[in-house]
Amino acid sequence: MADNKTYSVLFVCLGNICRSPAAEGIFKEMVAKEGLQDRIAVDSAGTSGYHEGELPDARMRVHGSKRGYNFRSHSRKFRSSDFDKFNVIITMDDNNYRKVLSLSQSIDDDKKVYRMTDFLTRHDADHVPDPYYSGDDGFEKVLNLLEDACEGLLQKLKDDEL
Ligand code: 4NP
Repeated sequence: MADNKTYSVLFVCLGNICRSPAAEGIFKEMVAKEGLQDRIAVDSAGTSGYHEGELPDARMRVHGSKRGYNFRSHSRKFRSSDFDKFNVIITMDDNNYRKVLSLSQSIDDDKKVYRMTDFLTRHDADHVPDPYYSGDDGFEKVLNLLEDACEGLLQKLKDDEL
């Protein structure tokens, strides 16, 4: 990362109780391990406000804790002012991607929006599937994809490629 460069990264899914808070927790852990917590800010939000204020889904917290994570953010809805606060906005699936872009007010804002799967290096997928109605395997699959993409994302930030 170039000297003095800072980033603010926002992960976005639908409910902000499964995928994006897990991405936030995983990425924060990786950023802290590299000592970059003062240069990379991390948050998450949902395109819906269905679960506003809630902790992450208990199933996601259990699966995360088995890998050493503690997901503890509170759900909040994505707002257009997030385009002013964040320079990298990462969506989990096509619906989130389109919804976030529909709230953008400029081409510069459009350019901040990515898909989580853009950063995969070990898996081949075009979206991170919603695990809400799945079983244990759905949550494990999400965590596998998120860990892969978070590693890829951090490498790109370190290489000044975003
Ligand atoms: P998330 O999962 O978007 O990964 O947080 C979901 C959580 C809740 C609902 C759907 C998806 N829901 O319909 O309530």
